[in-house]
Amino acid sequence: MKLSFHANQRLTNILVIDDEKLILWGIQRDLERAGYRISAFQKAEDALQLLEKQQFHAALLDVRLPGMGGIEMLERIKSVSPDTQVIMITAFADVEMAVSSIRRGAFDFILKPFSLEKIHLAIQNALETSRLKREVASLKIDRAMRLQQRFLQGESPRMRSVIESIERIGRAGAGVVLICGESGTGKGLAANAIHQLGPRSTNPFIEINCSAIPENLFESELFGHEMGSFTGAVSQKKGLLELADNGTIFLDEVTEMPITSQTKFLKALEEQVIRRVGGQRSIKVDVNIVAATNRDLSQAVRDGIFREDLFYRLNVVPIFIPPLREREHDILLLSEHYFNVYQAKYKRSFSGFCEEAKQRMLEYSWPGNIRELKNSVERAVILETADFIQEITLGLGPTASPNVYIQPKIIFSDDSPFPESGIDLLGYLESIEKRFLQKALQHCDGNQSHASKLLGMSRDILRYRLKKYNLFVQERDQDLGK
Ligand SMILES: Nc1ncnc2c1ncn2[C@@H]1O[C@H](COP(=O)(O)OP(=O)(O)OP(=O)(O)O)[C@@H](O)[C@H]1O
Ligand SMILES: [Mg+2]
Repeated sequence: MKLSFHANQRLTNILVIDDEKLILWGIQRDLERAGYRISAFQKAEDALQLLEKQQFHAALLDVRLPGMGGIEMLERIKSVSPDTQVIMITAFADVEMAVSSIRRGAFDFILKPFSLEKIHLAIQNALETSRLKREVASLKIDRAMRLQQRFLQGESPRMRSVIESIERIGRAGAGVVLICGESGTGKGLAANAIHQLGPRSTNPFIEINCSAIPENLFESELFGHEMGSFTGAVSQKKGLLELADNGTIFLDEVTEMPITSQTKFLKALEEQVIRRVGGQRSIKVDVNIVAATNRDLSQAVRDGIFREDLFYRLNVVPIFIPPLREREHDILLLSEHYFNVYQAKYKRSFSGFCEEAKQRMLEYSWPGNIRELKNSVERAVILETADFIQEITLGLGPTASPNVYIQPKIIFSDDSPFPESGIDLLGYLESIEKRFLQKALQHCDGNQSHASKLLGMSRDILRYRLKKYNLFVQERDQDLGK
């Protein structure tokens, strides 16, 4: 066997305790030759002081020692330094004791008589295991930080405390979590983060939007059905709870769950057992539940559309995500974040938001919360022709009073009232035109001929209009010279 010598072994401290002088010296000399830093003692008591002062990466302890025994020393070491890997040395007659030392946290044991090679191997294994443990721990922290960056941004005190709760709840692997908050505040993101941070992250995460499933199909979706259990059940089908086994199910808009299904769902939740529609067999499932709602759940209980017992069952670990208007600090942070995201995505470059735009963003009430802010910034990054993003491009110009955000959807829907504060029609039509031009080009990957066909105009007209709006366009090879 080849013993490798790594430079960092010089930094590896190993404690060795054995009352037999010759064995102790033998081990010490051998390990020192291999480059480790050794502290050797014949009595455990003599090592106690040093234990308080120095960090040992590994320890080799004889089980039978005069005075304080090896097992007691193992416990002392683990209490001051849980990461120290302890290897017990024991005579054949003490195997029972050695096994019990493993239960108390020892990494391994070596039977006497032993070869020095065995000692080396055991130490190398122990150190490698610690290294991997440290690596996993740091990856977990990294991942949590990445998650926070990718998912939930927020620096306001309220959002920080929400993010901290999400991290704690996620890591703990909580079985039932309820997330409340207005539309667009990030409930879906939070649910995902809870799953990703927890021990089930590699298992399924299944999302059900309770309002999107017709009432008569709800139970079959959730619990599955047997063939022929109702008209249309042409084959057996597993339900989402079964498919999410060992993972997490995200019940979005949970107040929309049909009241008749709520009883059955509560039962499944309590017993962790389901039965397919039309089936007899009980199927065990182990599923974490994250439920979300943008309605006041206790009001839904008072209104009689949500069962009180299910409400209490879901409300064990509640998280409330505050609306964006109540965390001003995050408005600029999030707009900056999405500004960077979309500049990169659309390969555009601006100097930032102009002061008036920032002011308007802070004043505006963002009824659609982060989703609305994100969409506004995306549109502005696509449409803006100035160097700084202007308030008008964000949809926060003079025509938009702080609380009325005019979206094309609202204006074009037949039943919406004409905006009180009026509208800059020409500017608005121009912004729509620019938006369509950009969208078409993105869709065609920059191919102007294709885009002009989709827009029902000649390529020359398309070019003329792009030039007029000073829109940045990167022509593709096949487009050039045609
Ligand atoms: N804290 C945040 N940081 C960054 N992006 C966020 C944050 N919260 C939400 N978003 C983004 O805002 C959008 C809306 O978030 P999400 O869909 O999670 O909201 P929701 O509360 O589930 O809304 P709804 O009630 O309408 O389903 C998503 O695109 C999401 O990426
Ligand atoms: Mg959602």
